Amino acid sequence: MFDSPLTETNKIFASTRYKSTISRIENHEETRIFCRHNMAHFLDVARIATILCQLENVEMPIDVIYTTALLHDIGRLEEIEKGTPHEIASVALAKDFLAITDFSEEEKASILDAIANHRNKNTTGFNRLFYMADKASRPCYACPAESQCHWDQHKKNLTILL
Ligand SMILES: [Fe+2]
Ligand SMILES: [Fe+2]
Repeated sequence: MFDSPLTETNKIFASTRYKSTISRIENHEETRIFCRHNMAHFLDVARIATILCQLENVEMPIDVIYTTALLHDIGRLEEIEKGTPHEIASVALAKDFLAITDFSEEEKASILDAIANHRNKNTTGFNRLFYMADKASRPCYACPAESQCHWDQHKKNLTILL
């Protein structure tokens, strides 16, 4: 096998706290018919964001991209339980996970900024690409709940974007 460039991402993924956070979100969303916030989604976002960075010539280490994707929705539980917007809750939780990594302070700031802005359509640079990757990751074209989904029809991914 090749040497994965995801050294820091895997430190987070291997942590007991990360695994329990993800499994608690999964339990809460078990019967949800709309888009879920699980590992499959995080990896779809990571891979699409990686492709988008290449296409748009935005330089960002792949480990930074994957960590941003792994952490961007981890505040979902607090959103479900307390109503906190999940991008805010995710930033607070992400700080703890980033503390176990060796990312530089600049990289940590980029990750937190992209998480904080992942629902903001008026951004630039990596934040903009990450926002688009999050949206493009949703397979509306194959979703059984598509007709009940609140997304505007023109926002739904009815073709394969990436
Ligand atoms: Fe989100
Ligand atoms: Fe997401």
